[in-house]
Parts: sequence; structure tokens; C-alpha cells
Amino acid sequence: MTRLRQALVTGANRGLGLEFVRQLLVRGDRVIAACRHPGKATALNTLAGEHPGRLHVLPLDVAAPKSHAELARELPLVLGDGDDPGKGSLDLLVNNAGVLHSGERFGQLAAANFEDSFRVNAMAPLLLTQALAPLLADGARVTNVSSQLGSIANCNRFGTPSYNISKAAQNMVTRLLAHALAERGIVVVALHPGWVQTDMGGKDATLDAAAAVAGLLRTIDAAGMEASGSFLDWQGQPLPW
Ligand SMILES: NC(=O)c1ccc[n+]([C@@H]2O[C@H](COP(=O)([O-])OP(=O)(O)OC[C@H]3O[C@@H](n4cnc5c(N)ncnc54)[C@H](OP(=O)(O)O)[C@@H]3O)[C@@H](O)[C@H]2O)c1
Repeated sequence: MTRLRQALVTGANRGLGLEFVRQLLVRGDRVIAACRHPGKATALNTLAGEHPGRLHVLPLDVAAPKSHAELARELPLVLGDGDDPGKGSLDLLVNNAGVLHSGERFGQLAAANFEDSFRVNAMAPLLLTQALAPLLADGARVTNVSSQLGSIANCNRFGTPSYNISKAAQNMVTRLLAHALAERGIVVVALHPGWVQTDMGGKDATLDAAAAVAGLLRTIDAAGMEASGSFLDWQGQPLPW
């Protein structure tokens, strides 16, 4: 019998993160759903009840490296090790948690938004992946949920600067991680989910979360080593940096 694939999703309590969890469970994976307040994560706790032993909800504030270390300590207990040497490792890490401070205007920009966005959107995917690297299986996949707003080539107006700048930095994180993890055959990709109906995307967005995540998972599954370090959209099409 082949072992269950194991995946960890950050920012898993709502939006795209929650939909990742749903679809990973449906396809049969074991899932670790990380979020800031597991006690308040009603949808996740309901899902955990519906999938006994296959969904674990763990605390994680991606902006706090101490929280990364705590998660790295706790994870082996959840992943288990048993007789199968691969059983105790992660096959997929989805760095999904993100923040967008809306309403920023040139002339009134505040440092606090930049600091928060940089911590959550750029620093966290790098430092969390570093903290969890010993628990990633050789050949695993790491997905950084990016945005086309982080594309420097496609920037054609002034808007959401703390978000755009931090996502551009996150794209560099993807390239750097691809190099750091290449010798272990770990594929690292930056994925733009499309404009999606979530709290962040708003109700006018063109895609629902189910369609976006289905496309993202297809793209992740199709990505081999040749795609590591690339920036793709939810349909697997390359985006310019
Ligand atoms: N929706 C879109 O149209 C769109 C487009 C392009 C890219 N994206 C990207 O897709 C990802 C998911 O976005 P979404 O639309 O699902 O946004 P969302 O509905 O606003 O959800 C954001 C998630 O990130 C979590 N988060 C924020 N700061 C965190 C922290 N410090 N520690 C842990 N979790 C934290 C939130 O947790 P709390 O509930 O605790 O706040 C929430 O679970 C983000 O990286 C976003 O930039 C979205």
C-alpha cells in the first residue's frame, strides 16, 4: 500500500487556504492546516470531524519565527514515523497566508503596512520553509502563493504598494528557495491564483476559490524540476517577473 501524501497549508482557516485543505482532503491526502487561532477555526474543526485522523489543525502565526520553531517541534508528532521512512515527512508545503493593506495612497504611506506585509508575504515563506526543510520529503513541492501584482514587468499603475513590493520580494524568495532545495529534488514554484472571491479578492472577483484551487493543484502536480523557481498562474501559464 502506498503511504498517504502529507500536506501543510498556512493561513488555512479561510479563503484560498481553507479551499486547499478541502480539496487536499477530497483527493485523499493527510493535511496539516496551520492558522493563527485553531480554537476559532470553525470550518477547519468541522472538517477535522468529518475526516478523522486525516486533518490536524495546528497554531501558526507566520509573522513570528518563534511560532515557526514551535510548529517544527510539534509536526513530527503529527506526521508520525512508524516503519515507513517516508511517513514522517511532508510532500507539499503551501505558503498561502498573505496580507493586503488596502487604501494606501502615495503621500500617506505608512511604514507599519510595509513591515507587516514584508513579514507575512515575503519573510515568512522563506523562514518557515527553512524551519520545516528537515521535515520535507526529498522530491517534495513547495508552493508560494504569489500574485500577479508582484510582477514588476506587469506593473502599470500605482496601487497597493506594500502588497506589490512584498509579493515581488516573495518571488525572489521562490527563486532562492528553488536553488537552496534543488539538490534534494524539491520543486519550488510561485503561483498566482487568479482574482478570487475571498475576503481579500472581494465579491466582484472573477473566480471562485474552488476553481482557483483546482487549477493551482493541477499546476503543482504537473510541475517537475524544470519548473522549479518559476512564476506561473493557476492554469500553469508562465508570468513575467
Ligand atoms: N484572493 C485573490 O484574488 C488573490 C489574488 C492573488 C493572490 N492571492 C494570495 O492568495 C493567498 C490567500 O489569499 P486569500 O484571498 O485567501 O486571502 P484572505 O481571504 O484574506 O485570507 C488570508 C489568510 O492569511 C492568513 N494570515 C494573514 N496573516 C497571517 C499571519 N500572520 N499568520 C498566519 N496566517 C495569516 C489569514 O488568517 P486570519 O484569518 O488569522 O487573518 C487568512 O487565513 C494570499 O497569499 C494572497 O496574497 C489572493
